[in-house]
Amino acid sequence: MKLNRVCLIIALAFISVTAAAQKNSPIVVNVNKPGAEIQSTMYGVFFEDINFAADGGIYAELVKNRSFEFSDPWMGWDRRNQDRKGSVLIINRGGPNPRFARITVSTDTAAYALTNEGFRGIGIKKDNTYHFSLNARMEAGATQDISIRLIDAKGAEVGNSKITITGGNWKQYKASIIANTTSPKASLRISFDKKVVTDIDMVSLFPQDTWKGRPGGLRNDLVQWLADMKPGFVRFPGGCIVEGRELATRYQWKKTVGEVDQRELSINRWNTEFRHRATPDYYQSFGLGFYEYFLLSEDIGASPLPIINCGMACQFNTGEVVPLDELDPYIQDALDLIEFANGSVETKWGKLRASMGHAAPFNLRMLGVGNEQWGPQYVERYKIFSEAIRKQYPDIKLVVSLGPNANGPLFEYLDPKMRELKADILDEHYYLPPEWFQANASRYDNYDRNGPKIFAGEYAAHVKGTEGIKRNNWLAALSEAAFITGLERNADVVHMSSYAPLFAHAEAWQWAPDLIWYDNLRSYGTPSYYVQQLFSVNKGTQVLPLLKNNGVLAGNDSLYGTASIDRVQNQIIIKLVNLSYAPHNATILLEGLKKKPSQAAMTILSSATERQNSFEEPAAISPIEKTIQLNKKNMTVDLAPYSLTILRIPVEKASGK
Ligand code: AHR
Repeated sequence: MKLNRVCLIIALAFISVTAAAQKNSPIVVNVNKPGAEIQSTMYGVFFEDINFAADGGIYAELVKNRSFEFSDPWMGWDRRNQDRKGSVLIINRGGPNPRFARITVSTDTAAYALTNEGFRGIGIKKDNTYHFSLNARMEAGATQDISIRLIDAKGAEVGNSKITITGGNWKQYKASIIANTTSPKASLRISFDKKVVTDIDMVSLFPQDTWKGRPGGLRNDLVQWLADMKPGFVRFPGGCIVEGRELATRYQWKKTVGEVDQRELSINRWNTEFRHRATPDYYQSFGLGFYEYFLLSEDIGASPLPIINCGMACQFNTGEVVPLDELDPYIQDALDLIEFANGSVETKWGKLRASMGHAAPFNLRMLGVGNEQWGPQYVERYKIFSEAIRKQYPDIKLVVSLGPNANGPLFEYLDPKMRELKADILDEHYYLPPEWFQANASRYDNYDRNGPKIFAGEYAAHVKGTEGIKRNNWLAALSEAAFITGLERNADVVHMSSYAPLFAHAEAWQWAPDLIWYDNLRSYGTPSYYVQQLFSVNKGTQVLPLLKNNGVLAGNDSLYGTASIDRVQNQIIIKLVNLSYAPHNATILLEGLKKKPSQAAMTILSSATERQNSFEEPAAISPIEKTIQLNKKNMTVDLAPYSLTILRIPVEKASGK
C-alpha cells in the first residue's frame, strides 16, 4: 500500500516535470526549410452592400433617393409645405431611370421647398466643401432660382448656395457649399423661389473630400481602412446580394455600369431580410457599380474577384432557379464581364470600360460562379458555366461555393463534387463561436494537397449573448487570429481568406459582427480588423516550419503560431497567439541561422477578452509596436495574456533557400 502511494507520487511528479519541460520547450523555427509560397491573395476583403455598406456607406453620395426611384418616391424627402406653396408630381417616362419630379410653385410671395434627410442624416464637416448637383429642365425661356441650404439638426443653416435654371432641355446644374460648422445629422433643403414649373432629377450632394478626390467618388476614411489592410483581393458585390431574394432582384452587373444616371435602381435584398432589423429605405443606386469596384481594387493593389449569379436566387429565400436550357443570358453575362474587365478597347465591353475612363484592362484573373449555393441544382449549373467560361477564357480561375456551413450534409455533398469537376478554388464559409475557431486551427493540416485551393471566403467568430457592435470583442478577434495561423501554415492549400461582412453603419446595420463600423462622420476598426490587417501586412512570402515538441503549434498550452520569411525585406516573421489568461515566456530557436540577430520589431495586440473598440474608444484595442533586443544565446519573448504577438527579425540575404 505504502509502496503504491510512493510510486504514484513519483509518477505524478514525473508527469508534471515532463509537462513543465514540454511547456518550456522552445518554439523552433527552421529558417533553412522554407515551405509553400504565400499567395499575394492570402488575405483579402469581402465587400457586400449589407449594413448600408454602399449607399449610406462607402459611396459618398449624401442624398437618399436622389432620383425618386424608391418604391415610395418620396422616401427620404420632406415636402410638407406642398399644399400652401406649391405641388409636386412624380412623372414616369420609362427607361432605366424612369421617374422625375415636377415642381409647381403656386405663390409669388414664398418659396416652395423640398428637404432631403440623407442616410440617417447628412454628415457635414466644418470648412469642408460639398458639391451639389441636379438635373433640371423647364419651359423654354423661363428661369428658376434655386436656393440650396444645409441645415443642422436644430434648424440652423450650416451653409448655402444658389443656382439659376434656364428653360430648355435637361441639363445638369452645379453649386458648391462650404460648411460653417460640423453636423452629423444635417439635411439638405432646396427651395424653388419663382412661380414657375420645374422638372428635377438626380439631386445629389457629395463631399469634395473623396477617395483620390474623385468627383462622385467614395468616402475617403472608409477606403483608407481597406487600403491600410493591403488586401490581396477584393471580392464583390457579395454575398447574398449576388443572388437576390428572387431572380428578378439578383445583381446584374450590366445595369451598374455606364452613366450613373442611367443605372437602374434596385431594392436591396437586406431591406426586408430580418424583421427585427428591417431597413425600408435600403436600395441600391449602383453609383458604386462594377466599374467602381474594379477601380477600387486597382487603387488598393488588390486583385478583383467578382462573383456572378449562376441562375439561382438565394436558397435561404425563394431558391428560384433558371431552367438549365435558359441559362444562356446568365452565362453571357459572365463572358461579357470578363470582356469588360480584360477585353481590348475594340471589343464591345472593353470599349465601354474605356469610355468610362479605363482603357487599360483591369487584369481580372478569378471569377466566382454563384455565391453561397448548394445542392445538385448548383452542381448542374456550375458545370454548364464552367464549360462555357473555360472554353473562351481558360486562364480565368473559377471560384465555387461549398455552401453556407463548415461541414455537414450540404458541405459534404459539394466538396467531392466540386473536386471532381476540377474547380480551381473552393469557397468555404463559417460564422461560428470563438471556440470553433480555436479548435479548428488545424482544419487544413490534413487537407488534400493536390486538389483545388481553398478560399476561406466568409468567416467571423460570433460571440453568443452579445448584440450588434458588442460582438466584436477581443475574444472573437483573438480566436480568429488563432485560426488564421492555421490558414497561413497551410498556404500551399489555402490561397485566399476574408472576414465577413466588411462594413456596418451603426444606425442601419442588419448583420453583426462586422469588421469596420461607422456613422456619418466617424469610423473605427474592430479588434478583428486589426487582426486581419496585421496578418495581411505581415504575411511574408514563404511559410517556415514552426514546431514545438516536434508538433505544429495549434492550441497546445493555449498557444498558436506560424512563421514565414519575407524575401523582399529579408525578415523572418513569427506570429504567436497566446489564448491563455496567463503570460507565457516563450523561448524561440531560429534553426539554420548563421548569424544570430540582435533585435526584432515586435507588434502586440492584447486586451481583456470582453473588451471592444467603439466610437468613443476607437483604438482601445490596436497594435502597439516596439523594438526588442534579442539575447543571442537564448531568444526569449514574453507573450502577454490573451495576445497576438508578431516578430519581424532581420536576417542576412543568403539565409534560407
Ligand atoms: O456576410 C453575410 C452573408 O452571409 C452573405 O451575404 C452570405 O453569403 C452569407 O450567408
